[in-house]
Amino acid sequence: MRYRFMTAIIFVAVASMAQAQGTAPAASPKPAPSKNKKALSPVDAKVQALLAKMTLEEKIGQMIQYSPWKSTEDKIKGEIAKDEVGSLLNVYGAKRANEFQKVAVEQSRLHIPLLFGLDVIHGYKTIFPIPLAEDCAWNPALLEKCAHVAAQEASAAGVKWTFAPMVDVSREPRWGRISEGSGEDPALGSVLATARVKGFQGEHLDDPNSIAACAKHFVGYGAPIAGREYNTTDMSEVTLREIHLPPFKAAVEAGVETLMSAFNDLNGVPASGNTHTLRDILKGEWGFKGFVVSDWASVQQLVSHGYAADDKDAAAKGILAGVDMDMQSHVYGDHLAELVKEKKVPLFFIDGAVRRILKVKYDLGLFDNPYADESKEDGLTLTKDNLDLALQEAEQSIVLLKNEKNLLPLSKDVKSIAVIGSLADSKMDPLGSWHCRGEDALDKVSTILSGIKSSVSKDCQVLYAPGVGVTVDSGTDKALSQAVDTAKRAQVAVVVAGETQDMSGEAAARTSIDLPGRQEEMIKAIQATGVPVVLVLMNGRPLTIPWEAEHLPAIVESWFLGTRQGNAVAAVLFGDVNPSGKLVVTFPRNLGQIPIYYAQMNTGRPAVGKEKWESKYIDCPNTPQFPFGFGLSYTQYDYSNLALDSKTLKPSGALKVTVDVKNSGSVAGTEIVQLYIRDLVASITQPVRKLVDFKRVELAPGETKTVEFDLPASKLGFYNEQGKYVLEPGSFNLWVGRDSSDSTLQDSFQLVSK
Ligand code: BGC
Repeated sequence: MRYRFMTAIIFVAVASMAQAQGTAPAASPKPAPSKNKKALSPVDAKVQALLAKMTLEEKIGQMIQYSPWKSTEDKIKGEIAKDEVGSLLNVYGAKRANEFQKVAVEQSRLHIPLLFGLDVIHGYKTIFPIPLAEDCAWNPALLEKCAHVAAQEASAAGVKWTFAPMVDVSREPRWGRISEGSGEDPALGSVLATARVKGFQGEHLDDPNSIAACAKHFVGYGAPIAGREYNTTDMSEVTLREIHLPPFKAAVEAGVETLMSAFNDLNGVPASGNTHTLRDILKGEWGFKGFVVSDWASVQQLVSHGYAADDKDAAAKGILAGVDMDMQSHVYGDHLAELVKEKKVPLFFIDGAVRRILKVKYDLGLFDNPYADESKEDGLTLTKDNLDLALQEAEQSIVLLKNEKNLLPLSKDVKSIAVIGSLADSKMDPLGSWHCRGEDALDKVSTILSGIKSSVSKDCQVLYAPGVGVTVDSGTDKALSQAVDTAKRAQVAVVVAGETQDMSGEAAARTSIDLPGRQEEMIKAIQATGVPVVLVLMNGRPLTIPWEAEHLPAIVESWFLGTRQGNAVAAVLFGDVNPSGKLVVTFPRNLGQIPIYYAQMNTGRPAVGKEKWESKYIDCPNTPQFPFGFGLSYTQYDYSNLALDSKTLKPSGALKVTVDVKNSGSVAGTEIVQLYIRDLVASITQPVRKLVDFKRVELAPGETKTVEFDLPASKLGFYNEQGKYVLEPGSFNLWVGRDSSDSTLQDSFQLVSK
């Protein structure tokens, strides 16, 4: 049984690799001679020539990645000199990277340069908003620029590969890593994945300002059962293809050089040993030409999953499934050579992996320019332009959640403001959990307190109290009453509450997503004084804030906005910037609603609110606190005249959808106009709404613009149980509006078969 299974894997894999690499499958351990040498691209020809010179051990060396620490550094340098290491992670700084590179390039037999990887997630030293925040800007063009700046700074420091973007769709706010992704929607996630890949990789990968991107974590990592980090995922093939694969596919189509295989078990087969996703889909169906790196020791962890008997078995399963490079688990280095000699792993698999890795190194221009320019590093990071871009992105990432009676924007001439909350004066928290080298430039971080101080008129008194802190054990009664007393002395209180940066991100799952510690108690006490309260949230996931949403007049979601957090928040609080961000993830009313997302199925008994026997709760509405796509502004936008250029659409055609959007308020603003559809009857039930497009529209006061969408029929399909993308004729509803719950403007059309 085991043997037959293995044979099946090999057969599928060989066929897939042949297709993916354009080379003939080789059944023998010797690389197959190319039948058509002319067909090889110049890079492939170089790769082939180098591969032909390599011993088995040298080939395996390219498939190994280590993170050196002080105690292992010398040993690793020794291995690099013997061509036994292909890549290092967590080595940064031009000087340090060059030190290692010198060993590879000057002391090893083959002189193959090392590839340095690092988690440059939302900035290197200039830190941009965390991805979940950045994505609330719905601005792919700006996002691309930010990713490119991150690439420039990282590249100057010798880092030529980032483990980003994380494109895991997640509908699970308990999961801390929701902070690192694009939220709950696969279509939006795909657009943003494309922007990030293009930003990191630039127009030419061998440009000194470009670095290779890595779409991660392939796949399903964003759906851990009960939100617990690294937990199992279990989903249908339809859900996999409809929800979790699209952003990866988009990244591959955008030319992403690498992917990372995930930690999680997916339907019983761990993602880092999963032939179906890695070979059949990624390298086969999608024709991915780059390489796959494992997540940190995730190949070795096939043993803990109960999927491999021991480390050697894990190494075999990892490579056979299609993991080309082993991050930090040592199992490839320890066992692959033996596995090849025992004919348990055909050499073809090693050659295929090494080809992919070498190709990325050639694409990056590393063979010609292996070293970083030590004289340029400092001048290229934290430049004024980079910091200005970070401010712009931070401003656009802020989401205004509530603004009763136009409490915001505040007047700069207010006599006194109380700023309450330790997060308001924190330089570390704005950087988020993946702060990369941002902490080397803490002096550049603007806190919310400093942002407010530098915005108000000189006669305004800014009072500050740290209050009860954030963590459960930090809040004393004294700190609470000091906060209340401070608020009482001011005309308005800006309370900054939420999570510290380490409460989201990797290994930071929570079973409660309320405001932690005594923060809510403090907010209630301040509100009870009668001072108007503006709540500014700083957090890395949706929070449950039903009391605040009901009782406080103004709530600003500021997330972790990076180096320029304070200036961006102050710009919004005082109206220098009109907020335009919209949520990319649903905010539940309480934990029991999770998972809650806009694109749910209708069920057989949808809740219309009249009957007991409907799909609903007896103690809470089905609606969220704040829906996907939601965000307010200091102006109003009126939508009218929704029109379709046809009521029928052919499979090869496109529908033109237009709508008028008017800024009927008195300040300029940017509205994010969203287009949703519903396929009313299908052979696989379809969600009540699906986002298919959006547009950012800038409007002066009083201005009206006609917003136009081209909706190609190709966007109306779905994946069936056989994994095929199908377009089924039938009726569709369509909405254009301000968020996923906006039903003001609706129309319908037919998709016809010819
Ligand atoms: C994370 C990855 C990251 C890697 C290297 C892992 O624990 O899951 O996202 O790229 O570490 O730092």
